[in-house]
Amino acid sequence: MKLKTLLLPIFYSFLITLDSVSAQTCFNGYFKPNSTFDLNRRSLLSSLASNVTTHNGFYSSSIGQDTNRIFIIGMCIPGTKPEECSKCIQGGSNGLLRSCPNQTVGYVWPDCCMVRYSNISFSGSLVMEPSGPVSNPQPININLTLFDRTWEELMSRTITAATSTHESSSLKHKYYAAEVASLTAFQTIYAMMECTPDVSQAYCEFCLKKTVDDYKKCCHGHKGGAFVRPFCFIRWDLYPFAGAFENVIFPPPPPQFSLQPSPPPRFLP
Ligand SMILES: *[C@@H]1O[C@H](CO)[C@@H](O)[C@H](O)[C@H]1NC(C)=O
Ligand SMILES: *[C@@H]1O[C@H](CO)[C@@H](O)[C@H](O)[C@H]1NC(C)=O
Ligand SMILES: *[C@@H]1O[C@H](CO)[C@@H](O)[C@H](O)[C@H]1NC(C)=O
Ligand SMILES: *[C@@H]1O[C@H](CO)[C@@H](O)[C@H](O)[C@H]1NC(C)=O
Ligand SMILES: *[C@@H]1O[C@H](CO)[C@@H](O)[C@H](O)[C@H]1NC(C)=O
Repeated sequence: MKLKTLLLPIFYSFLITLDSVSAQTCFNGYFKPNSTFDLNRRSLLSSLASNVTTHNGFYSSSIGQDTNRIFIIGMCIPGTKPEECSKCIQGGSNGLLRSCPNQTVGYVWPDCCMVRYSNISFSGSLVMEPSGPVSNPQPININLTLFDRTWEELMSRTITAATSTHESSSLKHKYYAAEVASLTAFQTIYAMMECTPDVSQAYCEFCLKKTVDDYKKCCHGHKGGAFVRPFCFIRWDLYPFAGAFENVIFPPPPPQFSLQPSPPPRFLP
């Protein structure tokens, strides 16, 4: 609870300003400044952006021995241009170096990428905490009965899309989906979800479902938001974000808001 309260202002500023440095979450003990662990961490974080871009948007590695060992993962969402990806990872890494000066574990999900490091190997592990919302607290100002129905449908459709294996989905971006739903004839809801590729499909699905539930508990009725966990992420909004919706096919508007059917064509005699 304390953690969430503490993180809220940072998260909030991330959503409003959408700059490349977003909510850094760090936890689990401290290391000594200038220790070997510290130097290893700096070296990994500072070279991560170039390593992620030269490895097609996904990089996972570790350096050091025993207590000085550090594990790292960095990835960009599919379709991110190399310069954007590099900028995002660099921003995330710098944010972690700045905001987690002496913590052994940290993660961040900026705009279109994620960075996570730890002194403990986390590959494939079900690490659910710490977690926190990134919510726009403004009310959505729309009939919630209607909104909830569309939103729930979109969330479950996005979870399904993110956790089903597609022929085309690469091993590096196994769990990712960006989906849209028409709220009214004039408004669209945009949703994006992702898990890191090291976890099982069952863990990813569990994480996304729990995260949607947790988001509902904290932020129902808010006008857009996100919820972050060490290995999974959800975000939705009323506008496209993170460059994630350029290739998305838009569904028709819901029937209650459809335009009047056009009159039948008149034939000339
Ligand atoms: C990781 O860091 C924590 C906190 O300092 C420490 O308690 C733990 O023993 C470390 N684990 C390893 C594998 O170094
Ligand atoms: C760490 O090293 C830097 C550069 O060598 C030095 O300026 C700084 O004072 C050191 N910090 C600590 C806490 O030892
Ligand atoms: C990351 O890339 C740098 C070159 O930019 C390389 O020297 C370094 O070994 C790479 N890091 C890891 C952990 O492989
Ligand atoms: C970690 O850093 C914080 C903030 O700089 C400082 O208050 C704290 O004493 C440090 N803890 C350790 C164990 O170095
Ligand atoms: C919201 O929409 C539902 C379904 O169309 C309707 O039954 C309900 O009265 C509306 N609520 C408000 C507050 O307008």
